[in-house]
Amino acid sequence: MTGANVSHTKWMKRAIFLASLGKNTTSPNPKVGAVILDKNGKLISEGFHFKAGMPHAEAMAFNNLKKDAKGGSIYVNLEPCCHQGRTPPCVDKVISSGIKRAYISIEDPDVRVAGKGIKMLEEAGIKVHLGLCKKESLDLNKAFIHRNITKKAFGVFKWAMSIDGRIALKNGKSKWITNEESRALVHSFRAEFDAIIIGGNTLRKDNPLLTTRGLKNPEPLRVVFTKSLDLPIKSNLWDCSKAKTLVIYDSSRANKKYLTRIPKCVDVEEVSSDNPELISKILAKRGCNKVLWECGPRLATAAIKSNCIQEIIAFIAPKILGGENSMNPLADFEFGEMNEIIKLSESQLSLIGSDMCVKSSLKN
Ligand SMILES: NC(=O)c1ccc[n+]([C@@H]2O[C@H](COP(=O)([O-])OP(=O)(O)OC[C@H]3O[C@@H](n4cnc5c(N)ncnc54)[C@H](OP(=O)(O)O)[C@@H]3O)[C@@H](O)[C@H]2O)c1
Ligand SMILES: [Zn+2]
Repeated sequence: MTGANVSHTKWMKRAIFLASLGKNTTSPNPKVGAVILDKNGKLISEGFHFKAGMPHAEAMAFNNLKKDAKGGSIYVNLEPCCHQGRTPPCVDKVISSGIKRAYISIEDPDVRVAGKGIKMLEEAGIKVHLGLCKKESLDLNKAFIHRNITKKAFGVFKWAMSIDGRIALKNGKSKWITNEESRALVHSFRAEFDAIIIGGNTLRKDNPLLTTRGLKNPEPLRVVFTKSLDLPIKSNLWDCSKAKTLVIYDSSRANKKYLTRIPKCVDVEEVSSDNPELISKILAKRGCNKVLWECGPRLATAAIKSNCIQEIIAFIAPKILGGENSMNPLADFEFGEMNEIIKLSESQLSLIGSDMCVKSSLKN
């Protein structure tokens, strides 16, 4: 790598770092950071996108300009937008600033942009360099990209289990398998998500809170997927003062008389079947980029089968639950041959006190 390339990479990494500051807050928008250098290569401004409706990264960087950007360069991890949204197009700002070079890591998959922003910059005589730090940028905005391409939310399935692969005793008792540190980590980790999904049975058995315990404001949307609608009259999820709740039910099976059990503050949507893909699509439409599946084995298996899960996170405690009939994290996929089984990739292992945490990707 030449000296010039090293410094271009350094500035793009800075833009990616700035973008990451919007980690838990930008949905449905992408995470974007921008760095502006003057014509002598000196840093004169930077910015990042914090929240939908607030200035885009480029706009914030131009608002913060300390010096004229004429003849200078801009580094952004995502193609600048060229459409009027809640805020004006960033491409116009770049062009009118007199900037001469734009380093853009990746194209914006949003059909309203998708290469058009780059074309407009080039037509205005700006030299565009595309692809710097592409891998890091794709990784940072993988959920946003996934939602734009598939029209489904990027799904992560999380579970906690004993070293012998059990998530509950056969009588359903599971409090607690993992240690306090792991459970606290789950609360903070939920803040990265726009919604948390469980099935009706987990609601009936565990009555969970599904919040970040105040670490994110507003809290992620809590979602219950039910076929029967046979949900309890009393539930922590019915208290909407802490977080919003959405119940999605399968209208082909549900007994609608149970709708009266759900308080008015809870949103309700019906879908035509029990295919988890329908939840993923509803949540994508509601602007959720990344959703956490904290469900039990039956719903999780259906979600994996319908390509709703892109990553898994398993918390593993050094405890033995034993028992042929105690619960597994997943139900039957009916694999008959070893070449049919699901192989995970990009695994990472970390230790949380005495517990282990494994993260892996699913290829689908
Ligand atoms: N250790 C852990 O990490 C962990 C995490 C979550 C759950 N759990 C345990 O898991 C147990 C519940 O397991 P579960 O498998 O019954 O989980 P679940 O999360 O309740 O999912 C199953 C429920 O989802 C609804 N559903 C909607 N569409 C479905 C579909 N296509 N396939 C399957 N279900 C669908 C049904 O609700 P309706 O019955 O309302 O129609 C069904 O009963 C509980 O004992 C809980 O403690 C453990
Ligand atoms: Zn923009």
